[in-house]
Amino acid sequence: MKVLLIHIKELLQVHQNPPQWLAGEDMGQLPILRNAWLLLNGDLIEAYGPMEEVPQGNFPKIIDCTGRIVLPTWCDSHTHIVFAGNRSGEFVARLKGMTYQEIADNGGGILNSALTLQNTSETKLMQQASKRLEELMYLGTGAIEIKSGYGLSLDAEMKMLRVIQRLKNKYPLAVVATFLGAHAVPKEFAHNKQGYINQICHEMIPAITKESLASYIDVFCEQGYFSAEETQQILSAGKQYGLTPKIHVNQFNAIGGVAVGVKNEALSVDHLELITDEDIEVLKDSKTMPVALPGCSFFLSIPYTPGRKIIDSGLPLAIASDFNPGSAPSGNMNFVVATACIKMRLTPEEAINAATINGAYAMGLGHEYGSITPGKKASVIITQELESYVQLPYAFGENHIDQVILNGRII
Ligand code: NIG
Ligand code: FE
Repeated sequence: MKVLLIHIKELLQVHQNPPQWLAGEDMGQLPILRNAWLLLNGDLIEAYGPMEEVPQGNFPKIIDCTGRIVLPTWCDSHTHIVFAGNRSGEFVARLKGMTYQEIADNGGGILNSALTLQNTSETKLMQQASKRLEELMYLGTGAIEIKSGYGLSLDAEMKMLRVIQRLKNKYPLAVVATFLGAHAVPKEFAHNKQGYINQICHEMIPAITKESLASYIDVFCEQGYFSAEETQQILSAGKQYGLTPKIHVNQFNAIGGVAVGVKNEALSVDHLELITDEDIEVLKDSKTMPVALPGCSFFLSIPYTPGRKIIDSGLPLAIASDFNPGSAPSGNMNFVVATACIKMRLTPEEAINAATINGAYAMGLGHEYGSITPGKKASVIITQELESYVQLPYAFGENHIDQVILNGRII
C-alpha cells in the first residue's frame, strides 16, 4: 500500500546517498527538508521532496503532517530486553548505599538474573520480552539489537536466543541477535573460568551458529568478568563460526578491551565510560563504532562516556539504551537522545545522528535503516506538533511521538 505524508514541517535525516556513518564535525550536520512530502510504498521509502512538487493522484492513505516533524525510527544497537523478572530489590539496596559491584560480588547482579531466567519457561520469557518490545515500538524504536547472556548454560542461552528469533518473526521491526555467553562466570565455574570459556567456545558457539540463532558475539571485558586475553580467545572462536564481535568494554576499568575489539574488527565497542587516549588512537582508522549508553550512567550514577571528547577527536559515536534489568531498566531512546545532549553535551544534531545512522551501522543495518532514503525501510516517527526538532531533547521526559510507522505498517 502507498502512504503519502504531506505538509511535513521538518523531514529529518534526508539522504539520497547516505554515508555509512558520520564522524567528528560531520556529526553536527543533520540534513533537513522543510515543508516536505514523503511517499512510502509497501515496506520501503519510495521518494521525498518539497511540497511544491507533491505527487498528484490517488493514494490509498494520506497523512497530513502539518506542524509535525518526521524522522527515521530510532536504531537501538545495544539491548538485553530478553530477561526474566526484574532486579528492583537490588535497585533499593543501591539507594541504601550498596554499589553495583558489591551487589554482584554477593551473588546478585547478572548471576541473579541468570538464576531467574533458568527457572522461567520459554513461553513466559517470550511474553515478558514481547511486552517490552511492544512498548519500545510505540516509543519510536524501529531496529534493535538484543543480546543473550542471562542464560549462562547451553540450554538457557539457546532458550534466550530462540525467544529473540521469535520476536524477530513476530514484529515489524528489525531485530538482530548477539550471543553473550561471556556475560559472567556462572557459580559452578567460579574456580574454573577456563572450563566455562571452553564450554562457550566448543559447545555453545557451534550449537548456536548451527541453528543460525545469532549474528554477533559479545564479551563483558571487565575486571572480575573476562580479561582482554580471555576476550581474544572467545572472539577468535566466534569469528571461526562467522560471528562478528560487538563487545562490552571500559565500563568500570580500562583493561585493554578496546584494542582487542579493534584488532578483531569489532563492529562496535560499547560502554566506554572510561576511555584512554590510547583507546582513542586505536579507534582512529578503524571501522569499529564507539557506542555510549547514557541510560546506564544515569541509572547507576557512574560517569558518562566522554562523547564530546570522542567526537572532537574526529571519531564517530552511536548511542543506545542498554535496556537490561540491572544497569538500565529502560529502552526509551527518546530519553537516551535527551540524556546524550544534557549529560554528554552532544548537540541535538549529533545525538540524532548517533541514534539513527550511526546506531544502524553499529548493528549492521545501515543499508536498510537510519536515514530517509529511497529504498530503505519505511520506518518513521511522526511527532506531535513541535516548534522544531530541538524540542525532542529539550523538553525531555515528554512523549513527543504521535505515530510510528514500522516497515510500512502504521502501529
Ligand atoms: O551492559 N555490563 C554488563 N552488562 C549489562 C548489565 C548487566 C546486568 O547488570 O544485568 C550492561 O550494563
Ligand atoms: Fe549491555
